[in-house]
Amino acid sequence: MTNPAATALAPEVGQRERITPAPTAAQEIVVLDYGGQYSQLIARRVRDCGVFSELLPHHVPLAEIERRKPRGIILSGGPASVYAQDAPPLDLRLLELGVPVLGICYGMQLLVHTLGGRVEQAEVGEFGRSELNVSDPGVLLAGTPREQTCWMSHRDTVFEPPPGFAALASSTASPVAAVEHTGREVYGIQFHPEVVHTPYGQQILTRFLSEVCGCERSWSAASIVEEQIRGIRAQVGEGSVICGLSGGVDSSVAALLVHKAVGDQLTCVFVDHGLMRKDEGEQVVRTFRDSFKVPLVAVDAETRFLEKLAGVSEPEAKRKAIGAEFIRVFEEEAGKLAGAAGAARFLVQGTLYSDVIESGGGTGAATIKSHHNVGGLPEDLRFELVEPLRALFKDEVRAVGAELGLPERLVWRQPFPGPGLAIRVVGGEATKERLDLLREADYILQEEIRKAGLYRELWQSFCVLPDVRTVGVQGDERTYGHVVVIRAVTSDDAMTADWARLPYELLETVASRMMGELREVNRVVLDITSKPPGTIEWE
Ligand code: XMP
Repeated sequence: MTNPAATALAPEVGQRERITPAPTAAQEIVVLDYGGQYSQLIARRVRDCGVFSELLPHHVPLAEIERRKPRGIILSGGPASVYAQDAPPLDLRLLELGVPVLGICYGMQLLVHTLGGRVEQAEVGEFGRSELNVSDPGVLLAGTPREQTCWMSHRDTVFEPPPGFAALASSTASPVAAVEHTGREVYGIQFHPEVVHTPYGQQILTRFLSEVCGCERSWSAASIVEEQIRGIRAQVGEGSVICGLSGGVDSSVAALLVHKAVGDQLTCVFVDHGLMRKDEGEQVVRTFRDSFKVPLVAVDAETRFLEKLAGVSEPEAKRKAIGAEFIRVFEEEAGKLAGAAGAARFLVQGTLYSDVIESGGGTGAATIKSHHNVGGLPEDLRFELVEPLRALFKDEVRAVGAELGLPERLVWRQPFPGPGLAIRVVGGEATKERLDLLREADYILQEEIRKAGLYRELWQSFCVLPDVRTVGVQGDERTYGHVVVIRAVTSDDAMTADWARLPYELLETVASRMMGELREVNRVVLDITSKPPGTIEWE
């Protein structure tokens, strides 16, 4: 879930001062992004091998790379041809840093082309699965089979390695699919080791990291926790910190990290807008206040939000009303805290590494999450941001959450929109009565999905309550009741999604429970729309 406080406070935050605890992992691999679709994945896979890795734009100043003292550099793939006029070039000084360089796909072609090998433009590319024949495993491919499958995605092809380089392998359409020069510590592979369709990919990456770069497995949830705690302490000192908790995994993990670092200097504010799912509010309070003993201000603001939603049916108007009220409540609470315990100077925000990358890379560009549905805080509320998740991918955030003892239910919670159930009462006003009905229906769906062991497999699963009534017959009586829509999707990033093929038995149980237990419901339907053309939410 997007942390409502984080999003609420996001816009215009560029005007505020931002000091971020930069990761100080002892060993780092820099991945230079040449625009490939898998570039982020390379960094994630390197981290899966236990080595910290950052994705930087290919044109980052050399000093930025040197500052990180990387153990190795990986050049990613990319859409360009080395012969294109605007092809991203190779900065030859990279090869003089004294650290191994591995080029993947375009990265390899760039190395080969620049160092005097032969890359040719091809009419037909090589896309998808391909057979790799290893003629000389060298250092990079040692220990992998002579014949293996790999994943290719390129048009230009390498025909000859640069002078002094060994050709290690060929594939169906690539005479030279892997090269190395151990003396210069330059390596190249045409295929993508980072995708699952290259079965030995992770092993090859591991070889590069351990045998070539000499990295150890030192990046783990435990080491992240340790390092972030150090960073937060250094940043915050004796200052007081405020955090908007939403119950989502990002704000929860960020809050726990900060609490572990500075204890009761942190106060969390949880605004219950009455648009959460059943029992969610209590769960947040129980977890943070009761189990973790985090100072928590829980504000029951349901009535205020319902008043603002009265008479509002248009989706964007709902979002705006909720966003504006959220800021008002948060501001009031922040104001009270400032009065009570000295102004909170710091604000925790659950910015993730993917947000940092998407907003221009980790090189100091504006990196604040923003969401269209909320406005900014007034100028007189000034905070310095604490962003302990800034270097982490979502799966690492979950691992850190588990490491910190966050209950599994919170660690694995599906994303939930900031405006909550209000945008799932569609085509009409989000009244208390409708929200309550939707909440009960949703509870039944979640319970059955969990029972079937499918919760984690789904990106999101929820119910929608359209403002429609249909005729039915229940107990010999004609009814005119509500329709509940079941929406369940699989996805990796919410950019695209497929409707989930839920088992018929599960659907049957859910439907009959809804119609049996919820008097107002007389019809249950299933949404089988993918994204695109649909969106995940209905509004
Ligand atoms: P759509 O419906 O556009 O949603 O396919 C993509 C993802 O974003 C979530 N979503 C929101 N999250 N505030 C949020 O914090 C919103 O207004 C909002 N609208 C959609 C949605 O649940 C899905 O995960």
